[in-house]
Amino acid sequence: MKILVAASEAFPFCKTGGLGDVAGALAQVFARAEGNEVALFLPRYRNIGGGAFSFKAVGGSFLIPIGGRMETATLSHVQWGKVSVYFVENQKYFDRPGIYRTAYGDFEDNDERFTFFTRAVLEGAKFIGFKPDVIHCHDWQTALLPAYLRTSYKIDSFYAKTATVFTIHNIAYQGMFGRDTFLKAGFDWTDFTPEKLEFYGGINFLKAGITMADTVTTVSPTYAAEIQHLPDFGKGLEGVLRHRSADLFGIINGIDEEIWDPATDTFIERGYDFKSYTRGKAACKKALQEECGLEQDKNLVLAGVVSRLDSQKGLDLVLETVPGFLENMQLVVLGVGDPALTEGFKRLAAANPGRVYFKPGFDEGFAHKIYAGTDIFLMPSRFEPCGLSQMISMRYGSLPVVTRTGGLKDTVNYNGEPKDSNGFAIDAPEAGQLRSIMGHIVSMFKWRDLWTSMVKNAMKGDYSWNRSAADYLRLFSIAWQKKQL
Ligand code: ADP
Ligand code: GLC
Repeated sequence: MKILVAASEAFPFCKTGGLGDVAGALAQVFARAEGNEVALFLPRYRNIGGGAFSFKAVGGSFLIPIGGRMETATLSHVQWGKVSVYFVENQKYFDRPGIYRTAYGDFEDNDERFTFFTRAVLEGAKFIGFKPDVIHCHDWQTALLPAYLRTSYKIDSFYAKTATVFTIHNIAYQGMFGRDTFLKAGFDWTDFTPEKLEFYGGINFLKAGITMADTVTTVSPTYAAEIQHLPDFGKGLEGVLRHRSADLFGIINGIDEEIWDPATDTFIERGYDFKSYTRGKAACKKALQEECGLEQDKNLVLAGVVSRLDSQKGLDLVLETVPGFLENMQLVVLGVGDPALTEGFKRLAAANPGRVYFKPGFDEGFAHKIYAGTDIFLMPSRFEPCGLSQMISMRYGSLPVVTRTGGLKDTVNYNGEPKDSNGFAIDAPEAGQLRSIMGHIVSMFKWRDLWTSMVKNAMKGDYSWNRSAADYLRLFSIAWQKKQL
């Protein structure tokens, strides 16, 4: 099958969170399956290039209509293992610092930037002669693609037999814009209806993807149910989603088990697997304490956070709860985002030297050190479509502390019995519940055998892409077959 993956980020080229990990990993696993050819399309943001990859310009250019204007797109190409990666280039839209935003908020032309990118993917595939059987697009940034195929490109024979699969990674980001964006995108007024593209008088990119794609997926079974049936979770789109219920599937994410492997990880102090966990974890913990200027005491529970600083992640609860435990606990936080949370962690660290360390920013290497060096990993999310960090932390023997929601519920088992558990879970994102489980954790940490039995369950879990990749490919093939009729 010829598969085109369109996304606004993919690791190792560009990443702000889990979407990047997943889009990159999926392109690779699809390409490894026999008989598949994969082209991954990404925007060429500033600073992508150089490094380990050799970029080749694809000669020529093509035009993309935006509003009344024509904007020019060029392509460059990188061969990444079996995946052909095509970067859509346009200086005005992508050659600037940042991917989606500045420190003060979203770029004001994000509607244009991603409309341009999406249309450039469709024109770019033609330009290079890659005729896809399936196009897999991700999140609001590429959600207009299925809408184009059903409207402006309806009579385009190049795409007549192409199926679209749209994956929702986070329904909290919908890409909602006014009528002017609808016009800039070049749609016809006949499509400005509630059944199609109109949403409260404007256009909602995510809704367009949901209504227009042949198949819709999201990143865990529990989240698939939550967004259809719970208003707080569906964020206004629960009706639209229920309408597509028969074509909506929850497929749990995996993690790249080569990148996230404590045995071979070159970022960390000492590699370890489950057999060498005790010594490996001790060495990594000591190194992390040292690097962060924390007291070097192995008997303190070292807690970690690696996260976008966003209300989704429930980190305000961490700020509220952790101070009560600092006699027995230390905390290392790496994160970037919300100014109030940033300020909160800065203050907590300043008030508790030796116990709390905060590193603002995005730092791949330091993230690895936190997963490896900590005993527990805090992720009391208010909602979590899937979550990768809890799986990464389990693989590194850092027990996750999560809320029973979305993908956290589908991956972390906690029933009070250490022999059946691979982490800790609370029912709701409430400070009281977090406080009570932290109390339990602090006392349980002294029972090394019980603790190690949980670590064993966590480290031995299967977080690979094997099963989920097969689920996607099965859906692709069904969607494609329907198009051939
Ligand atoms: P989300 O996609 O909602 O941000 P996930 O748990 O799915 O959450 O994925 C987060 C990914 O981003 C993980 O790979 C995590 O290690 C990484 N990450 C998040 N924040 C940072 C940061 N500040 N520095 C480095 N890596 C980060
Ligand atoms: C989103 C979600 C996260 C998910 C990731 C990858 O960013 O917030 O839960 O793991 O996408 O699918």
